[in-house]
Amino acid sequence: MAVLMTNLAEAAGGGAGAARREVNLPAPPATGMLSLEEALTQRRSAREFTPGALTLAEISRLVWAAQGVTAPERRTAPSAGATYPLEIYLVAGDVAGVAAGVYRYLPRQHRLEAVAEGDLRVPLAAAAVDQKWIGQAAMVVVIAALFERTTVRYGKRGERYVHMEAGHAAQNMLLQAAALGLGATPVGAFNDAEVSRLLHLPDSELPLYFIPVGRVSR
Ligand SMILES: Cc1cc2nc3c(=O)[nH]c(=O)nc-3n(C[C@H](O)[C@H](O)[C@H](O)COP(=O)(O)O)c2cc1C
Repeated sequence: MAVLMTNLAEAAGGGAGAARREVNLPAPPATGMLSLEEALTQRRSAREFTPGALTLAEISRLVWAAQGVTAPERRTAPSAGATYPLEIYLVAGDVAGVAAGVYRYLPRQHRLEAVAEGDLRVPLAAAAVDQKWIGQAAMVVVIAALFERTTVRYGKRGERYVHMEAGHAAQNMLLQAAALGLGATPVGAFNDAEVSRLLHLPDSELPLYFIPVGRVSR
């Protein structure tokens, strides 16, 4: 746990004495071990995980694949009118050097911002119609969206675009997990209100998709 303290940088801000804690992620390498074709072939939903913490390098690549910045005001996943409505949350349970808790990914800084403390994997699994296997994943990525960023420009049709974008980000992450030899599965069945409560989501955001990730035997 000593490592943990070095990775959690106390920063100014946060109300009522709540320090904002941030986790700096290593820069994602520009190359990987698998070709795109190999990752596409090997991607398979996994619901059985073997014990083993994820590393900071792995979660860095995963969140970067979902929403990493690749050029000024551009990200790994396409976005209608570059409005970027998605927010990526990590429910970390077994990540080396990262305290169990909820974190929000800050794409521009490639950093995690702590939102809540404690291991929420099992309550999250309960909120996902009690799919117990989700509680066994080392972490669960939750893709949430702030619809107004897109609907302010495209009106009602923007809602459709936001759902499409969640699919783009999820698929990027699933392929990255395959490329890293990790197991990951998209999950759509959960109680929105309960997940929003657990993750302390602002009223303006709605959870859209889970991606539990963990080690698997191959
Ligand atoms: C929109 C969507 C929602 C899904 N929700 C769940 C879910 O709640 N629980 C689950 O175990 N799998 C879920 N899945 C995964 C599918 O069951 C899985 O992709 C499908 O069986 C095909 O298997 P494959 O992913 O290994 O190719 C979901 C997939 C999609 C695309």
